[in-house]
Amino acid sequence: ERISLEVFRYNPESDTGPEFQQYEVPLRKDWVILDALNHIKDQLDGTLSYRWSCRMGVCGSCGMMVNGKPVLTCATFLEKFMPGPVRVEPLENFPVIRDLVIDMSDFLEKLKTVKPWIIREEEPEPERELLQTPSQLADYTQYSMCINCMLCYAACPIIGLEPDFVGPAAIALAQRYNLDNRDQGNKERREALNQEHGMWQCTFVGDCSVVCPKNVDPAGAIQRYKVDTASHWWKNLLLPWGTDKH
Ligand code: FES
Repeated sequence: ERISLEVFRYNPESDTGPEFQQYEVPLRKDWVILDALNHIKDQLDGTLSYRWSCRMGVCGSCGMMVNGKPVLTCATFLEKFMPGPVRVEPLENFPVIRDLVIDMSDFLEKLKTVKPWIIREEEPEPERELLQTPSQLADYTQYSMCINCMLCYAACPIIGLEPDFVGPAAIALAQRYNLDNRDQGNKERREALNQEHGMWQCTFVGDCSVVCPKNVDPAGAIQRYKVDTASHWWKNLLLPWGTDKH
């Protein structure tokens, strides 16, 4: 049994524009979409370009649009799309470099804007390690599970309309540090995300959380951040002498 794949092709050095190319591949029960692409690359057309590495849903590099939905191609079975055809495209909302390879540099710049590291106000560094209880760890563990696969950016309608929106993964990453009891950088991050293209641009469509393969729930992270920020403002409005750290 075979199934056909319609694969997006784009070569910036060629005069022809983007096009879909059709390939027939064997339909094997244990194959994921990435296996089909590897079969094409090895057996049918060595010029096909795409990214992948771990093949086990960890590295986050194999995200693509499959029949219009952003998925990890190493975690999506081919058989699910019977009788075909299966349309494979680069992730939506990103510039395409070649075929299925997108340019992620803007995404990486956005991650940096939320200062994704532990910020300490006290200097010098504490003399001993900062201990953490299991429940303090549990406060942010969910937000530390992100693998930067960018599926949430491909699913986000706001990114589609406003490409400068800092985006779901970056805000969830900010929360990963804000909710860490060793961190004291909430104020700096709030300033970074209380900008035109920060957290308030999210309209809570929620597709980011639907497509997230790691259940990070970026939409929930953003709403929680908005509530925390609003209550921080209220506290400072009602208690003008008090600026709490968080
Ligand atoms: Fe690493 Fe798919 S190849 S997540």
